Amino acid sequence: MNIFNASGRRLMSLTIFGSTATLLVVSVALARNPFTADELKAMEASLTQSSKRGYDMWYGARADMANNGLACANCHPDASATNPQTFPKFMPQFDRVVAYRDMVNWCIENPQGGKALDVSGEDMIALEAYSFYLHKGVPIQTGLQTRQTSGPTPKNARGINVPGTGIGFDKK
Ligand code: HEC
Repeated sequence: MNIFNASGRRLMSLTIFGSTATLLVVSVALARNPFTADELKAMEASLTQSSKRGYDMWYGARADMANNGLACANCHPDASATNPQTFPKFMPQFDRVVAYRDMVNWCIENPQGGKALDVSGEDMIALEAYSFYLHKGVPIQTGLQTRQTSGPTPKNARGINVPGTGIGFDKK
């Protein structure tokens, strides 16, 4: 078909108009009211619960994550030097680009000698929720590894008020 002839052009504009109209109908059908205050509160509470779980685990709540008494907080107090904002990035021990959770499992299996977590399980998400929460506002610097990155700010680090588990040094 010669798309430069007059009838071809009309055909094409009809098609474009048709898809736009379909898109409009679909978006209207899928539209919903904004979240209510109660819904937002429930979502926030759910995230806080996950972050608190992450905090507990960070301080040793899951015994199978180590066979030597170490917890994340021994080496990464307040999630320091975990740099969630720099992932994904190339890590030499994997010889490929990895996600933050791959490094979490690397630390569980190597410095801690423990059993790796299910990468998409609730506990892994909880560890991420805690660490990412403390890094709120830190600019994303995917791949950065050529210079030391700053740790989370004390203001954020005091945000979750859960007593430590007693393992490791809790500077809160
Ligand atoms: C005995 C000390 C030690 C413990 C305990 C430890 N880590 Fe690490 N962690 C390290 C070291 C050392 C590195 C740097 C590894 C490298 O760069 O190859 C590291 C790197 C990381 C990184 C990547 C940081 C980056 O910028 O590349 C993350 C994420 C991380 N650890 C999370 C954790 C979590 C979560 C735990 C607890 C489950 C944990 N670590 C326990 C020592 C430890």
